[in-house]
Amino acid sequence: MEIESKTIVLTGAAGGIGRVVAEKLFLREKASLILIDLNKSGLDSLKKELLEKQNGSDHRKTIQTFTCDLSNPSEIDQLSDKLKNQPIDILINNAGITHNGNFKDISMEIFEKVISINLMSIVRLTHKFLPQLIKQKGAIINISSGCGLLAPGGVNAYTTSKYGVVGFSESLRVELKGAVGVTVICPDFVNTDITKNSMALMNIDANSPMRNVDALVKKEGVSPEKVANMIIQSIKKNDGIVLGGIKMRIACLMKFILPTLSEKIKVNIYKQFIENNYV
Ligand SMILES: NC(=O)c1ccc[n+]([C@@H]2O[C@H](COP(=O)([O-])OP(=O)(O)OC[C@H]3O[C@@H](n4cnc5c(N)ncnc54)[C@H](O)[C@@H]3O)[C@@H](O)[C@H]2O)c1
Repeated sequence: MEIESKTIVLTGAAGGIGRVVAEKLFLREKASLILIDLNKSGLDSLKKELLEKQNGSDHRKTIQTFTCDLSNPSEIDQLSDKLKNQPIDILINNAGITHNGNFKDISMEIFEKVISINLMSIVRLTHKFLPQLIKQKGAIINISSGCGLLAPGGVNAYTTSKYGVVGFSESLRVELKGAVGVTVICPDFVNTDITKNSMALMNIDANSPMRNVDALVKKEGVSPEKVANMIIQSIKKNDGIVLGGIKMRIACLMKFILPTLSEKIKVNIYKQFIENNYV
């Protein structure tokens, strides 16, 4: 699908990946943006920055910003009511939080929070905007994770939510074939502040083992630019599923053709995870 002149809804726009996606879509691809996030000041500064960089060169493109807590269904209802008369061509469901910890230790409150943002907000937004997306013969891009395919230990709530995103997207793609494109993106670690941001949003103690994961994500993570380019390419090509690097592709293959070996490797990685105090 061509992106120029399209209207794109992007959630989690004020975050590490979201800001880069917004910049590329607005400045390079010449799309109009509807940016959504919990973080109002982040949205305001992003809008200001993009309009300054555009430097008055194209007045047909617009940026609208909406502060919304996507874990709250009634806020999603209010947001979609405000947008119901606008054409929407592309929906990018990118907002998300992470959580590290063993299932036996996690509170149900945190588990439900992770599911509500990472999975249910995607389901709700898609349901709300689907009539507009069908009318525009549009596209939906959902951001999952390698955890949504490989199920490592020690990050159970996040993994559960991201598996849900893969299943929801793949099934919806079949139902909407020929009407709306549906893509699910599964990146490796990305160098952003997701761990710190998530700890703050869920009031997790700053001394929790999660703080060590922040350093791991920064050290091992690919750049947000790389993921932003994956997202934009997938819109243009209407890909079904987009995987991260070669290691992830091999691990996915192994999961089905050598399941016992695959499990042994995952258990070893989980043991190292515990030794390194990541959970
Ligand atoms: N960073 C990684 O290693 C990584 C790896 C794979 C997948 N992902 C996925 O990529 C997406 C973007 O992550 P990121 O790395 O840019 O993280 P980030 O923390 O930088 O950005 C996430 C954004 O989502 C927003 N958000 C969180 N809760 C919200 C809510 N209730 N309502 C509205 N907005 C909310 C945050 O304010 C933030 O701006 C997420 O879905 C994440 O799971 C990230």
